[in-house]
Amino acid sequence: MPAPLEGIKVIDMTQVQSGPSCTQMLAWLGADVIKIERPGKGDQTRGELLDMESDSLYFLQLNANKRSIELNTKTAEGKEVLTKLLKDADVFIENLHPGAVDHMGFSWENVQKINPRLIYASLKGFNADSPYVDVKAYEDVAQCAGGAAATTGWWKGEYNVPTISAAALGDSNTGMHILIGILAALLHRDKTGVGQKVTQSMQDAVINLCRVKLRDQIRLDNTGTLNEYPQYPNETFGDTVPRSGNASGGAHLGWTFRCKGWETDPNAYVYMILQDTKKGWEDTCNALGKPEWLTDPKYSTHKGRAPHAFEIFKEIEEEYTLKNDKFVVSKTLGEAGIPCGPVLSMKDIQNDESLRKSGTIVEVEAADPKRGKFLTVGCTQKFSNFTPVIKTPPKLGEHTEEILKSLGYTDAQIKELHDKKVTSV
Ligand SMILES: CC(C)(COP(=O)(O)OP(=O)(O)OC[C@H]1O[C@@H](n2cnc3c(N)ncnc32)[C@H](O)[C@@H]1OP(=O)(O)O)[C@@H](O)C(=O)NCCC(=O)NCCS
Repeated sequence: MPAPLEGIKVIDMTQVQSGPSCTQMLAWLGADVIKIERPGKGDQTRGELLDMESDSLYFLQLNANKRSIELNTKTAEGKEVLTKLLKDADVFIENLHPGAVDHMGFSWENVQKINPRLIYASLKGFNADSPYVDVKAYEDVAQCAGGAAATTGWWKGEYNVPTISAAALGDSNTGMHILIGILAALLHRDKTGVGQKVTQSMQDAVINLCRVKLRDQIRLDNTGTLNEYPQYPNETFGDTVPRSGNASGGAHLGWTFRCKGWETDPNAYVYMILQDTKKGWEDTCNALGKPEWLTDPKYSTHKGRAPHAFEIFKEIEEEYTLKNDKFVVSKTLGEAGIPCGPVLSMKDIQNDESLRKSGTIVEVEAADPKRGKFLTVGCTQKFSNFTPVIKTPPKLGEHTEEILKSLGYTDAQIKELHDKKVTSV
């Protein structure tokens, strides 16, 4: 069975995480992804956060299954090579700083003339209508501008500060957003015969994930309170959605509960949701050995429970979770119908057998024997008719010659490009 995107050619001028996460996914799905890299340097992440003298894990985990060409697209010859590549490509994607690709002569208007069927994908920090349109952006800038930092973290005490999530909401999340746009534009091209420009800003991708916080802002405007937040009922609300620690953020109460060993293990916790439905609450009370909570009005309704949430959490901890290991708590309560899961450390995830079995965590052989096998996150979508194979990420310029030959360059011309520093430093 062919891979879903077999036959799709992607010219990839992306770097760092946002763009590469998208093009890696396109490559896993079978597209031929040609990564254009600055001669001698390549993607800036190749040399970042090094744990050994070899391509960094940062680069390796985001660039599997691609081909790499070293090409200085600021030179006349480099522009010519890129133009030839674009002629029969399906997708061009870039995430250079605002204006950089336009200055090189590869604006949407120009590229459209080279290939009207091309999907032109552009990823920036901010969208075209933003006052920050020309601003460079990284992960944290986007999390702050997208509402995530303002609504994440502790709501009182010295740690009541806007807080950045460790999850790549600004980077990989934006990559996945633009991926949706690219796939939609490819399907649209099948119907219309023409390509189009797809833009995605990092700020917008974060805002899209903060939709429920906008919901809460409107609720707060309308009612002056948010009764599933930890501030309720004893603290005051201002006029903007506050941070809410580990509160579930939904209609059901939820929190992180300490488990056995928490004194020495910072991740000995489970997250548990106290489901609000009749059956959910019954299952919870029975599993925790608290049948009396089914009739006591302080516990039996959400309205009764909400003002006492922390007293209830404390009882659950003292009488149940603190006496048990997080995996035992999760399994036992999970089997009893309670939405519950262990707080997994990265070490737990690294060693989790089921994640290896599902192909979510995979080992890949790096091109450099010094690195050997490295661990990465594989394809998280599971298909019934296709299994992505995660292949070795390219060395810088590994495919330069092969790609130039496929465009009709002779050995002598390839040498000339090399000597002129178009494909070398
Ligand atoms: C990530 C970012 C902050 C880095 O900015 P930067 O340090 O200026 O680096 P860039 O790679 O964008 O640009 C550096 C230069 O390399 C040039 N360059 C990039 N690829 C090149 C190539 N193959 N050949 C020749 N020049 C190249 C650019 O044109 C630019 O030149 P200029 O400054 O003269 O215009 C910026 O690219 C950005 O904001 N991107 C959009 C948002 C984004 O995706 N952020 C990353 C999130 S993971």
